[in-house]
Amino acid sequence: MAFSFNFNISSQLKQSCNNDTLDEKEENENQDTTKNQSKAKETSAPKKVKEAQEHKYTPDLFSHIENSVPETVTIGALPPLLYLNESVFEQTAPERDDAEKVLSQTITQNSDLITGVYEGGLKIWEGTHDLLEYVDDEGKTFSGKRVLDLGCGAGLLGILALKRGASKVHFQDYNSTVIEQLTIPNVFLNCEEEGGDENKGDEDGSPAPKRRSMEKNLTLADRCSFFSGDWVSFLTLIQSQDPTLKYDLIFTSETIYNTDYYPSLHAVFHKLLSEHGVVYLATKSHYFGVGGGLYLFERFVEEKNVFQIKSLRELDQGLKRHIVSLRFKKSLS
Ligand SMILES: C[S@@+](CC[C@H](N)C(=O)[O-])C[C@H]1O[C@@H](n2cnc3c(N)ncnc32)[C@H](O)[C@@H]1O
Repeated sequence: MAFSFNFNISSQLKQSCNNDTLDEKEENENQDTTKNQSKAKETSAPKKVKEAQEHKYTPDLFSHIENSVPETVTIGALPPLLYLNESVFEQTAPERDDAEKVLSQTITQNSDLITGVYEGGLKIWEGTHDLLEYVDDEGKTFSGKRVLDLGCGAGLLGILALKRGASKVHFQDYNSTVIEQLTIPNVFLNCEEEGGDENKGDEDGSPAPKRRSMEKNLTLADRCSFFSGDWVSFLTLIQSQDPTLKYDLIFTSETIYNTDYYPSLHAVFHKLLSEHGVVYLATKSHYFGVGGGLYLFERFVEEKNVFQIKSLRELDQGLKRHIVSLRFKKSLS
């Protein structure tokens, strides 16, 4: 099948080029990539970025957990991973704190994605399951690793890394609603499970078992940070917090559906992956109706000439799905 390499990246590129986080070389390459774009596109107003922010856990987030009935993903030898099901949000949207109005909009528009408004983080996409299966099959552990779950949604990949010994896990999602209403509660749900016998309850009037074990596990949360916002602005925020921070591992599932976002996604990998680090990316071959997919992303990465992209797994049920890795070319020579 022939794919044309004709990204509509002008607006995103302008954000990127105005941003200190892309180095000069990357800016020049991006300008080359877009030189054939139409004048109309070049002069169109840049899209607003969704400003990145860090989210701290607050006790009121625990109330969602205490009243919820979580579901569990169980894959092979992986620890069970608990999560709040999307239907919980549909039922409780009016009562929830949703400044972005994401919950109400997804329900009224019945849509998994509203570009620039809601990027799909409330449901768990197939790529997350594929990556979990891959990690299970390969028997990977993450002891001492610094991990980024990029475009995390429910955050199951980051949670697994946390459970398997990562020293630091950062969770990023475009939407603050997703981070606050889903990712953070899911992390604490899973921390709570680790309380073991602490969860069995007691008769002496001490705090409710769930809350007590969550408080106990706040130390586990010291290893986590949570961020919302656009990748351009996320990169700026992270680098302003710690200019030396690099991740050993970046998980990213179903995040290459929109070619507009390729420059900022690539910049995050380029600036935040450690020299010998690896990106594990799960994707479909093609995202109908949105336009991106593996082949276009591969072409983009090859043109940038920074990473080697390698196929790790192909799944052929229905629409083809893939797991690929990215490593710095210079680390392989
Ligand atoms: C289709 S969802 C996948 C969610 C999750 N990784 C999964 O597999 O279930 C895509 C995710 O990528 C993130 N994302 C997409 N475009 C983004 C952008 N331009 N800036 C920041 N995050 C973005 C969103 O946060 C969203 O949760």
